[in-house]
Amino acid sequence: MSHAHRSKDAPPTESHLFSPLRLRSVTFKNRVFVSPMCQYSCDHDGLAAPWHQVHLGRFALGGAALVFTEATAVSPEGRISPNDLGLWSDAHTKALRPIAHFLKAHGAVPGIQLAHAGRKASTPAPWVGAHRVDAEHGGWEPVAPSPLAFSPTHPRPAALDAMGIGEVVNQFVAATARAHDAGFEVIELHLAHGYLLHQFLSPLSNQREDSWGGDFTHRTTLPLAVVAAVRDAWPAHLPLFVRLSATDWADGGWDLPQSIRFAAMLQALGVDLVDCSSGGLVAGVTPPLAPGYQVPFAEAIKREAGVATGAVGLITEASQAEEIIASGSADAVFIARAMLRDPNWALHAAEALGVDVAWPVQFERAKHPPSPPR
Ligand SMILES: Cc1cc2nc3c(=O)[nH]c(=O)nc-3n(C[C@H](O)[C@H](O)[C@H](O)COP(=O)(O)O)c2cc1C
Repeated sequence: MSHAHRSKDAPPTESHLFSPLRLRSVTFKNRVFVSPMCQYSCDHDGLAAPWHQVHLGRFALGGAALVFTEATAVSPEGRISPNDLGLWSDAHTKALRPIAHFLKAHGAVPGIQLAHAGRKASTPAPWVGAHRVDAEHGGWEPVAPSPLAFSPTHPRPAALDAMGIGEVVNQFVAATARAHDAGFEVIELHLAHGYLLHQFLSPLSNQREDSWGGDFTHRTTLPLAVVAAVRDAWPAHLPLFVRLSATDWADGGWDLPQSIRFAAMLQALGVDLVDCSSGGLVAGVTPPLAPGYQVPFAEAIKREAGVATGAVGLITEASQAEEIIASGSADAVFIARAMLRDPNWALHAAEALGVDVAWPVQFERAKHPPSPPR
């Protein structure tokens, strides 16, 4: 990234990326959001550890307006791996509270992504392998809309019955109350990447013949029930986001027209922003990867469904992010891997765009142009 230098007297450059965004009573100081990223760094108990504090805290110090936790499981069997974060007991709330507090104290809105992995559960951290984790090593039998394994190396899930479906709603509601208690100010519900609620949406993974499967209305019943119940449990002054996979990139799957129709329903239920990702439902599918390849989904959903959107996926450059916001394609950019490479991505993006933003006072001597050493 280039580093533009301004003279002290030059007026601040107008930047769309560094303009504030207000949703309900929350003001985001800019449009740079840290996308949720699993760290597989809990000790089989779902409890936040020093790793999560340091990993997430760096992004607040680095100038991002909103920092999301990784996909945080609403129940033990909703974890992707035994090492995921969870929020199903008061001990989990207590472990996350200092993190939410630190993020807020350093100028970032603390956000949490709530998730249930469904049939993609009980797998190890990616650096360990891609096999199922058996009970001896902390694994469990995953649940799903239909008893269809995600891939030959994934466990075959049990189909949820009516009671199990009701429990999923209750688990999301209980985690919502705990997220508030822990101090988070944005919840993002994970309806993407082939996890449980996406499994209900897609006809490729939901082959139920009861009232939770079949046509669009029935496949969306559980995801909409979760969204409505969470919206009800989440304070009215705080924003609720939903992450969608706008398409499965597969014939006969969930696609953009269904996403647009669904996003309008989400908006009517009080969802404030739809974070537009894609894929993850069908094993072995490679999306057409290119810089900003999912931005057209954010643009179409924003235009057609009339809801604020977030763009995500291969957004790496300040000028690229600026253009996404300036063109009205999305209201915010979610950055993942570029943040891991440079946790100060937002501060550097401001510098590249010639925008003067505050740095943590402890870092000021490193800001360009450098202050003389004392
Ligand atoms: C290490 C890692 C962990 C991830 N974990 C999650 C997650 O917990 N929830 C989620 O919705 N997406 C997750 N993702 C996807 C990212 O949030 C993002 O959508 C994706 O990486 C594309 O953005 P990028 O090109 O900026 O990395 C993860 C990505 C990475 C690299």
